[in-house]
Amino acid sequence: MNKDWIKVENFISKDTAKLLYQYIKFGNERLSFLKSKGITVASDIYGMFNDPQSEGDLKSPVFAMYGDLIFDTLMVNNLEKIENIIDTKLTPQYSFYRLYTEGTELKRHTDRESCEISSTLCLGYDADYSWPIWFKDRDGNEISIETEPGDMIIYKGCDLEHWREPFKGNNHAQVFLHYNIKDGKYNNIKDGRPIFGIPHISLTKDWFKGNIFVLTDEEKSVIVDGEFRKALSKQGNAISKSAEVLEDEKLLRLKTHILTVFNDYVVNHLQIENQFYLTQSWTAINHKGDAHHSHIHPNTVFSCVYYVQANSGDLQIKMPLSRIQEGYNISYKILQQNIFNCRTINLSVKTGDVVIFPGWCEHKALPNEDDSPRIILGTNYFLTGTFGDYDNKDEITIR
Ligand SMILES: [Fe+2]
Ligand SMILES: [Fe+2]
Repeated sequence: MNKDWIKVENFISKDTAKLLYQYIKFGNERLSFLKSKGITVASDIYGMFNDPQSEGDLKSPVFAMYGDLIFDTLMVNNLEKIENIIDTKLTPQYSFYRLYTEGTELKRHTDRESCEISSTLCLGYDADYSWPIWFKDRDGNEISIETEPGDMIIYKGCDLEHWREPFKGNNHAQVFLHYNIKDGKYNNIKDGRPIFGIPHISLTKDWFKGNIFVLTDEEKSVIVDGEFRKALSKQGNAISKSAEVLEDEKLLRLKTHILTVFNDYVVNHLQIENQFYLTQSWTAINHKGDAHHSHIHPNTVFSCVYYVQANSGDLQIKMPLSRIQEGYNISYKILQQNIFNCRTINLSVKTGDVVIFPGWCEHKALPNEDDSPRIILGTNYFLTGTFGDYDNKDEITIR
């Protein structure tokens, strides 16, 4: 995509826009009615009034919904059309719609990484003017663009600051269809979801607990396919020459699974909203008697090991000090070792397990004593986005 934004008139027909506008208005009426009767319903089916980015006021809240199946479908069905317009291959992430109300504004912002290539599609409005969206271009110029029902603006959501001034009218429906550049720097899949038409992974983490992810034979053979670098020592492990193993289309399902687990770790365990991206992925094989020597992963914030096949041999992780020794290095008398009170932890791993640890942690794999090879798929992650604070003089941006 050469330009930062492109306006496409009549991206969808007026009739389709009208249908979808009515669909959203009915959704708004349905949720308002149910709420007025004191009925609490699930936001992933009925939409919501508490979208933090654009709330509206109590009298006329903004109705919004993430990942509605019809709009996720619209996003996927129009993939090729948008790819052709911007001459860039894309992967669909998620859809989001809003029915803006009088007085609502959309604060100045840039989007998160799943919105690398965003589009905003006007579905309909009840106002005596076309409410413009504003962009700040690379030269600092502030540009307003108006859209009529069916018109779309495609823009670089992460790079281009955009906003809307307070709305003067009854309502205005927009849907956003978000994409990543295929094989680009983010390469997310379905915004971390296993399937279209469901809420963000942070809200659905419990849905998939207990679901065991099993690789097919074909997926397994793709993982061990390709050339391997021979082990340096006799009992060492063989590592794939490829550092892009997960980019094979046949492993899309596994990639989604690993990214979903990693995303769950970041959002629900670390409880941080910073963005990470997958840097490299590789396969390592330990035959009977083989081990993996102690090492660290430079240029990596977090590493994640998925055990394709493992019946024997712990993963041993070492830290310079245990967590409770940080600050005061005391030789505590440990009752039972755990991840807080010891410097070395042995994780007994088995097929299907995922282990995530900081790249600076020294780790090794103990010998595989089983007849079948131990096969792992490793992934590294680095940060992207803005950290720190401009006023504190500690702001940095990693692109
Ligand atoms: Fe945005
Ligand atoms: Fe490693």
